[in-house]
Amino acid sequence: MNHQGREQWKTKIGFIIAASGSAIGLGNIWRFPYMTGMNGGGAFVVVYLLCIVFIGLPLLITELKIGRMTQRSPIAAFRALKGKKSPSQLMGWLVLVSGFMMLSFYSVVGGWSLEYILKSFLSVFVSKSPQTIYDMFGELYSNPAKNLLWHTCFMLTCMAVVVAGVQRGIERWTEILMGILLVLILVMVGRGLTSPGAAEGIRFVFSPDFSKLTPGAILEALGHAFFTLSLAMGIMITYGSYLDDKADIPRFSFWVATVDTGVALLACLMIFPIVFSYGFEAQAGPGLVFKTLPVVFSQMPMGMFFSTVFFFLLFFAAVTSGISILEPVVRAAMDGLGWQRKTATLILGFSVLLVGVPSALSGSTLASLKLLGERNFFDSVDYLVTNWFFPLGSLAVAIFIGWFMSEKLLQSEFVKGSKVGKYFPVWLFVVRYVSPVGMMLIFLNIVGFFKLF
Ligand code: PHE
Repeated sequence: MNHQGREQWKTKIGFIIAASGSAIGLGNIWRFPYMTGMNGGGAFVVVYLLCIVFIGLPLLITELKIGRMTQRSPIAAFRALKGKKSPSQLMGWLVLVSGFMMLSFYSVVGGWSLEYILKSFLSVFVSKSPQTIYDMFGELYSNPAKNLLWHTCFMLTCMAVVVAGVQRGIERWTEILMGILLVLILVMVGRGLTSPGAAEGIRFVFSPDFSKLTPGAILEALGHAFFTLSLAMGIMITYGSYLDDKADIPRFSFWVATVDTGVALLACLMIFPIVFSYGFEAQAGPGLVFKTLPVVFSQMPMGMFFSTVFFFLLFFAAVTSGISILEPVVRAAMDGLGWQRKTATLILGFSVLLVGVPSALSGSTLASLKLLGERNFFDSVDYLVTNWFFPLGSLAVAIFIGWFMSEKLLQSEFVKGSKVGKYFPVWLFVVRYVSPVGMMLIFLNIVGFFKLF
């Protein structure tokens, strides 16, 4: 607790692990490899790294600073920065609603990993034809009971951690889960690198062929940089509010971005060598993890062991992100409405669970319910959150900080506790110009103002 009675991280490393746990999630292990696969490999990776360094990292620093400076959760934080009457507090609402909606479908996907752990453990994939294994994903998607069950299990797990508080819940459990995750990843990378397709896999990820790079891929890389660093959902603001003035935020942020990127690359190094070894295509798209990989595992010696390890890893990564999406919403209710942590976690956790029900039923009972265009409920929420809320939220935060805050205040906050204070002008330049322009481009492209992909 700090002097205002607010919870604080127990250790610096605990904070770095918790923030990395938020950043490392389905985005690293499910989304990044398939995007890399679909966008031609190495060149996409290079662009993505540039986006992380030049746009993602400065914004990560910004969000953590907003949190630490105000010692508040998102809505109150923006209010504290600009006063009660300012419309800026709407931004707090925007990021919280985004997080709430995001968790409602993130939990459904996280839940699928539970089904796949069970299937692997029971050796369901063994001696089945690739087509049968592919179809299992469709069967899961169209099974209402299973989706509801796993979605509920996932949410209850997140709630159980959040209810225990910052140190005893989030910090302790992310430390444990991330520790196990690292070991599991190393096991899988070891498996990948000793398989016959290792060289081809490594080449695919690390040797850039820029002729394969499309303008659309560049924007996708940028969008993914926001997604993977858990920006624009109020998470880093909330996590930053549990830091004290001694914390070197720019340095910590650098570590979080490095660990997160490292894991995304390791995920490629475990997936592509095995995919190539068994003669599969890298361009499988979103089905890469849930369709292609189980087929590969089914043909590999001790495949069910590795399959179980892999899906556990996916589940742990998703849970540590899931709790980080729940925490800001819970914290906002604690700060703003004076609720107890337990009450806030129960009420809001169950609300997310309920709001997620239509997403969980999107492949079955509610398959004919179309919302945005031809999209079912799940796809609509996914589309809204990833394509609209994400860029808009980040854009709003960058513009607000870059253009509406006093430069003096920003500078004093930037250098506080930091050994890299001299980079303040670079940071300010990125927040003022580079990130807003980048996000504007993504956004205009998504809404169809111009079409790159
Ligand atoms: N960063 C998480 C991932 O890579 C996703 C996420 C986004 C989590 C936004 C929280 C908020 O999976």
